[in-house]
Parts: sequence; C-alpha cells; structure tokens
Amino acid sequence: MVPQMLLTTLFLAFSGIAEGVVVKRSPVTLPISRRVNLTSIHNLVRHDQNRAAALKLKASSRSRIGSRAVVNEPVDNQAVTYIASVGVGSPPTTFDLLVDTGSSNTWVGATQPFVKTSTSVQTPNQVSVTYGSGFFSGTEFTDTVTIAPGLVIPQQSIGVASTSSGFQGVDGIIGIGPTALTLGTLSPATNSLIPTVTDNLFANGIIDSNLIGISFEPTTTEEIVNGEISWGGTDSSKFTGSISFIPVTTTFPSSEFWGINQSVRYGASTSILTTTAGIVDTGTTLVLLASDGLAKYRRATGAVLDNNTGLLRITSTQFNNLQSLFFTAGGTTFELTANAQLWPRTLNTDIGGVRNDIYLIVNDLGTPSGEGFDFVNGFAFLERFYSVFDTANDRVGFATTPFTTATTN
Ligand SMILES: *[C@@H]1O[C@H](CO)[C@@H](O)[C@H](O)[C@H]1NC(C)=O
Ligand SMILES: *[C@@H]1O[C@H](CO)[C@@H](O)[C@H](O)[C@H]1NC(C)=O
Ligand SMILES: *[C@@H]1O[C@H](CO)[C@@H](O)[C@H](O)[C@H]1NC(C)=O
Repeated sequence: MVPQMLLTTLFLAFSGIAEGVVVKRSPVTLPISRRVNLTSIHNLVRHDQNRAAALKLKASSRSRIGSRAVVNEPVDNQAVTYIASVGVGSPPTTFDLLVDTGSSNTWVGATQPFVKTSTSVQTPNQVSVTYGSGFFSGTEFTDTVTIAPGLVIPQQSIGVASTSSGFQGVDGIIGIGPTALTLGTLSPATNSLIPTVTDNLFANGIIDSNLIGISFEPTTTEEIVNGEISWGGTDSSKFTGSISFIPVTTTFPSSEFWGINQSVRYGASTSILTTTAGIVDTGTTLVLLASDGLAKYRRATGAVLDNNTGLLRITSTQFNNLQSLFFTAGGTTFELTANAQLWPRTLNTDIGGVRNDIYLIVNDLGTPSGEGFDFVNGFAFLERFYSVFDTANDRVGFATTPFTTATTN
C-alpha cells in the first residue's frame, strides 16, 4: 500500500489543481490527454459506427474459441482519443497508450518498439485482437507495468505487437474493459483469461477495490490533458453529489461490455428509445442511437444530415429550441443539456464543417433497435458525467460534474 501522503502528492502533481484536493479513498490517479487527429476526423462517424459493429461482432464470435472476429469494414484511424503514458520493463520504456473500456488486452509496440529488460519474460503464446479501428497481433510477455509512480504491476501480461494496423500516433492500448473480453485472444492458450491491469492491481493489494473512476472534461482545443483515471476508488474532487450505480445488463451482446439498460427521452415527453440495452464506451466519440431512435431525434430537433461532416446539423433557431436529452438508467435520470449535444464549435472547421454552423454529437448507430446493443454513451456523454467501472460489483456508475451543465460548446 502506498502511503496516503504520497498519493496526495502524486495527485497534486498530476492534476494541476492547486489546492483543497481531497481524495476520498486513496485511489491512484493518472492524467490522460485528449488528442484529435485532424486528418482522420472527417471519418468520425464512420469510425464510431465501425467500432460499434465490430464490438457487436466480437461478442457474437467469442464462443468460437480460437477464431478471430472478421470485420468487413475499412480500417480507420482513431479520430478522437484519450492517451495515457505507461511504462513497461525496468528501467521502463514509456508508451503512449489509448485508454479503452471496450477492450481488455494491454499491448504495446505499434509505433515505438518494445525494449526487453530483465523483468521481461516471453510466454509461449501469441496474442491478437481485432478492433473496429484496426488490429494487432504479436507475442505475449509478462513484465513490470508502471501506470504511475506507486502504481506498479509486477508480471502483467502484455502483448508486444509484431503487426498492427490503425494505430499510427499511439503505441498500443491499455484495455480496461471486462476481463472476459480477453478470452480467445491467446494462442495456443485459447481458454485462458488474461487478468487486466485493474485485476492485477487489486490482486496484488495495490488498490483497495477492483474499480476505476474516469473524469473527462469538455474541451475546445485539439490536444490537452483534461482527463484522469483513478484506480481503486473515485476522485470526489471531480464530481458533484453522489454516484448512481447501474447493474451491468444481462442483455447480450451489451452484457459482454460495460453494458447497461437505459431509456432515452427528448424534452418533456418525446420517447427516443424505450428501456433497452447498450454500452458505455470511452473509445466512441459521439453518442450513438439505434437508427429508429435517431430518426425520432431528428424529427424532434429538425436536424438534417450534413454531408461534409457526417454529423447532424441544426439552424440557430432550432438550437434556441433544442431541448435536453434525458438518459434514464438504474432509476436515475441524467440530463444532457442542449449545449452538451453540440459538437464544440471551435472545432467545426477541423472536421470539415463551416465555422458558425451548429453540429450535433448525437448520431446513428447504424443498426436498428432490438439487437441487444441499441446505444453507445461515448465521450460526448462521459465529458459531462463522471463514470465508474466497477468490476467487483459488476456495475457502472455516473455522477454529475461541474461540467454537466456548462456551456462550453
Ligand atoms: C491520422 O489519421 C490519418 C489518416 O486517417 C493517418 O494517416 C495518420 O497517421 C493519423 N495521425 C495520427 C497522429 O494518428
Ligand atoms: C435489462 O433488460 C432486460 C430486458 O428487458 C431484462 O431482462 C434485465 O433484467 C434488465 N436488467 C438487467 C440488470 O439486465
Ligand atoms: C447529401 O448526400 C445525399 C446522398 O449522397 C444527396 O442525396 C444529397 O443531395 C446531399 N445533400 C447536399 C446538401 O449536398
């Protein structure tokens, strides 16, 4: 266990918050920075839809042990990503890794080569994972993984990529999804689960609870450190009120991810989706709704599809009339305000849009409702609500933040 004083010091050093920080349960906190790839962001919607399709397919093919999901979609680069710097080996090589709640393997070497040190042990296994936005395959090692000073995991299984695609500009992924998603990623040990970094931190007594708290803040610039992950607890300086928990849904295939049952309503009484299953996902930029739900949202808002950006667009009159979107889950309703439904206007031209036009972050999942995977609460949602991914209790939590109702866009 790391002494509380050190944790507080770390937190202060990383967060850039000057004073008055109270860390509730002694989690260890890692800053994460947001990066927007301007050359690929034109494909934002396609990326998000491909990812949703690939996640659904991956869940469905998981029972076919040893086979890999085949995704008949073009490989896109990530458009908007959150990156954490993670050390591997001793002395550590530092890698910039995508933070991903939709996958659970941790791997390195896409860009910067892996450097073997005295702590690196190669296993007899190959490891491979296919994503909506690419794939990697390589060799399994166990090694010392340093997430932050004081958050050091001995003998963490990692993949060392020999081939990868779709990951230019990052070195790999730190997978913080459910452990079960690692099943079938090893070969020949196809029946083995790989403990995630969170599992190992908990098993080694380095954190007190097997959960993660994530804070993202809305941003209007291309690259900025404006997020943090807390391992083993929540950071009460990042949310207001209490955390509402929602059990992970039993509806397949959302049940394979951080899936929840949720209904979506526009304004006082326009139903967009009746209670149905979908997922909470840090790897998706937008809020995606099943096609029939999106059609209702379009009718309610008057939005049109903008051909240049792929986003929905509204006029300023329609914006003045835009109502909140209400997400009800686990008996609590979370309100996404009109401003929170906008793409940040300062980034309009970066995505091929017109400077003063008004684009929306709610978009089409690309499939109809009723398939057990009817929405994705992506970054655009998570930038407005603190989120908790609680492996120990199989539940997801949300809390309001100072940014929930902010007019940043
Ligand atoms: C951004 O995306 C483009 C095309 O999709 C890709 O060629 C480029 O390598 C990416 N850059 C970064 C820094 O990820
Ligand atoms: C979610 O919805 C499904 C389908 O209505 C239902 O069977 C299940 O009990 C609900 N709750 C959870 C936690 O899955
Ligand atoms: C947008 O694209 C669709 C389909 O390609 C086309 O029918 C429509 O006319 C286009 N709209 C504009 C405003 O260019």
